[in-house]
Amino acid sequence: MATLHKFDVIVVGAGGAGLMAAHYASQNPDVSVAVISKLYPTRSHTGAAQGGVGAALGNVTEDKAEWHAFDTIKGGDYLTDQDVAQMFANDVIESVYELEHMGLPFSRTPEGKIAQRKFGGHTREFGKSAVERACYAADRTGHMILQTLYQQAIKNNVTFFNEFHVLDVLLTDENECSGVVAYELANGELHTFQAKSTIMASGGFGRMFKVTSNAHALTGDMTSILYRRGLPIEDPEFFQFHPTGLYKIGVLLTEGARGEGGILRNSEGERFMERYAPTIKDLAPRDMVSRAMYLEVREGRGVGKANDHILLDLTHIDGEIIEKRLPDITEFSRIYLGVDPLKEPVPVQPTAHYAMGGIPTTIDTEVIRDGNNTIVPGLFAAGECACASLHGANRLGTNSLGDLIVFGR
Ligand code: FUM
Repeated sequence: MATLHKFDVIVVGAGGAGLMAAHYASQNPDVSVAVISKLYPTRSHTGAAQGGVGAALGNVTEDKAEWHAFDTIKGGDYLTDQDVAQMFANDVIESVYELEHMGLPFSRTPEGKIAQRKFGGHTREFGKSAVERACYAADRTGHMILQTLYQQAIKNNVTFFNEFHVLDVLLTDENECSGVVAYELANGELHTFQAKSTIMASGGFGRMFKVTSNAHALTGDMTSILYRRGLPIEDPEFFQFHPTGLYKIGVLLTEGARGEGGILRNSEGERFMERYAPTIKDLAPRDMVSRAMYLEVREGRGVGKANDHILLDLTHIDGEIIEKRLPDITEFSRIYLGVDPLKEPVPVQPTAHYAMGGIPTTIDTEVIRDGNNTIVPGLFAAGECACASLHGANRLGTNSLGDLIVFGR
């Protein structure tokens, strides 16, 4: 016999999108809100996002939301929904300041503003040169977002069901959503959650690849449950490979490392990105860089005994900058590969990173069930599990954290 719970809003997933949604839903004390997570919330995969959240604050050099929208659309190979990209590029600015006001400890410029650095595909004046748009907290930006939002949810008395694994969604004969069924991992008991609004924020499905930056929890649960219930998956073929996963392991080595001046080199020591993207070089969008790395390996210029990977060279960068702005990835290289990035280049390879596709939604996160944009009443989706077509065929680095906070909101 399942235990019955009733809430106004339930959120499935406690990463950035889920916690932002819970934070907003719980602003009204008369609205009861629960978050269901198969993990402990602060272990959610948002915590692994490193380099930053892109927003055109213009704290280092001039920037405009319009340029951010353009980069997002171009980076998505023009398959991005352009209304969504424009809304996103404007709203993410406010969302970043909101996180700052909640207390998120961003790194700072010498004048005390939120620090920003360069990231792949982010440009000024519609592609003229790279721009500092990624707002960062060292290389722990996602971790800080997660902690900050979790504190807000606790403050607002959101109820958490931790280590509860959702098994199915409740859809009525009229195709309305009325909640979910979950399994309590600690004791195997079943729980039925009824709600007026159910928000899917369950993350991606990178674990289907052998080499991935994704944690073990990233198994596409809600995407597949809804698919089994007859809902479509939008753009599942668009899966992103991040250029710099640690060789063979896939653990992420942030693009922020190239934003700070890191260079990719082949077995001849050549900075090969100069040939593939002469203007922005190593800071081209990820799909271009990953493809270029693959081509270098295929043409015999891969590194190592098996000639099967590439090197990320940070040795020319001031060690103090690396230790201060990239402490986690420095540690990861030392621990997992025994390589000190201050002294020698780090072996890297493209790693399965992000699903651009997912549960189809409107710009307002309502789940849609068909090509006529028919809404499933009571059902919403945000974050990596969702697809409002912000990222088209290729997401720009930093737009995942932006996606979480804008669409979660
Ligand atoms: O490279 C990174 O720090 C990853 C960021 C992202 O996927 O947006």
